Amino acid sequence: MKEKNKTIPSDFVIIGGTGNLSKSKILPALFWRYLDNQIDEKSKIILCDKKISSKNKFISLLKINCKEAINKKISNKNKWDEFVKVINFLELDVVSGEGHVNLLSILKEKFDETRPIIFYLAISSTLFGKSCKFIRDTGLNVPQSRLVIEKPIGKDKLSAISINKEISSIFDESQIYRIDHYLGKETVQNLMALRFANTIFENQWNNNYIDHVQITVSETIGVEDRVSYYNEYGAIRDMLQNHLLQLICLIAMEPPSFYEADQLRDEKLRVLKALKTVNKKEIQIGQYRNFSDELGMSSNTETFVALKIMINNWRWAGVPFYVRTGKKLSIKASEIIITFKNKPHNIFSYLTPDTEDTPNRLIIRVQPEEGLKLKLTSKAPGPGGMRFFPSELNLSFGDTFENRLPDAYERLLMDVVRGNQTLFMRSDEVLAAWDFIDPILYLTKDMEAQLYRTGTMGPEDKILTSDGYRWLDPKEE
Ligand code: BG6
Repeated sequence: MKEKNKTIPSDFVIIGGTGNLSKSKILPALFWRYLDNQIDEKSKIILCDKKISSKNKFISLLKINCKEAINKKISNKNKWDEFVKVINFLELDVVSGEGHVNLLSILKEKFDETRPIIFYLAISSTLFGKSCKFIRDTGLNVPQSRLVIEKPIGKDKLSAISINKEISSIFDESQIYRIDHYLGKETVQNLMALRFANTIFENQWNNNYIDHVQITVSETIGVEDRVSYYNEYGAIRDMLQNHLLQLICLIAMEPPSFYEADQLRDEKLRVLKALKTVNKKEIQIGQYRNFSDELGMSSNTETFVALKIMINNWRWAGVPFYVRTGKKLSIKASEIIITFKNKPHNIFSYLTPDTEDTPNRLIIRVQPEEGLKLKLTSKAPGPGGMRFFPSELNLSFGDTFENRLPDAYERLLMDVVRGNQTLFMRSDEVLAAWDFIDPILYLTKDMEAQLYRTGTMGPEDKILTSDGYRWLDPKEE
């Protein structure tokens, strides 16, 4: 293994370990890393939950989620059996403390002071404080302990402040890893490479050259078995407060001096603090038609949100960022489209008056088919004078790199093991994001979510049209 990939054998204590996140994301990610020898058989994975009904059922459901990894090589089948042996199940109640003796005895079997213990709280943020107290009272908040918590942290700024307070009275900020899995996605990191490892775009990355930005994170799935969580949180808290704002930060931030955790987070924080408060005309919420049926009662929770965001600073003044996300839409895609300002004068207009005057666009495909596309206008080959057609430079990461692109959780979990906080949110970032979101929650409280049909791109747009634009759908680009 190359030095840069080196990770230290660690123990993972997953609280909420038999829940959906653990089964669908955390454990499959750990299995891929196990296959790459980044987790060894000395590591322990302890799945803790208040009640554990059937271990075998859990393992067989997990196996389905790990199918791609298991089927990759014949030898992976044996590796799967070995991996299952690394998994321990433990009934544990963080509120009453019941089960702590068993946790200690599993961990202390091969206790080593240098070995990181990673506590992953895959539970509601309302239990973060109690879980941290449990860890402290059990004597497990040792210097090598790390705490991983999931978004959304709180439901608004006030609750986020109190959660941050409870956590930071027990863990030092250097031990806390606030996950936003969008930061672990390859193409999201590539956005930083595109901007800061190249010069070609950075010169144009401002309001002199960029006309507007569109960000679409659309999903085809609904809320599935998370309906009661989702009804309480909605798309604004579940997606906008974190994933979408993080994308905006990476597009809009100034170059840090070094690619280093605090420098990066300082720059992202500046963007969050510069976001203009949204007004009623700049936001639309929607709900897919059978959401209330799934919930079993009527609800105005948004499963779709679209908004126009302006950034109050010199680089971005006057450049709208149009952002939307929703469930049960027609396509699964996360895409950023940067539209450049059009040429100041068209020298060809008299030759081809009917040619559409399309501006250049840079399309960053976060998923699926990760890659970059640059939309250009080219001359149509052959005789017949200057005729034009839209062409593109297309860089597909899937085709360029032979290796599979690791899932975001794989990257982030190994960063926790390495002690690298670069791709995690700092507490002040989370609070600044709530500063922007709280007024939106207040605005949308009295707004009726417009119903939309499953398999469409949400309610009819009112925001872009009033600015003379339209949404560019991922499939048409
Ligand atoms: C999660 C949200 O953070 O991100 C989910 O809670 C959403 O509601 C998911 O489905 C989307 O992630 P991805 O990686 O599939 O785009």
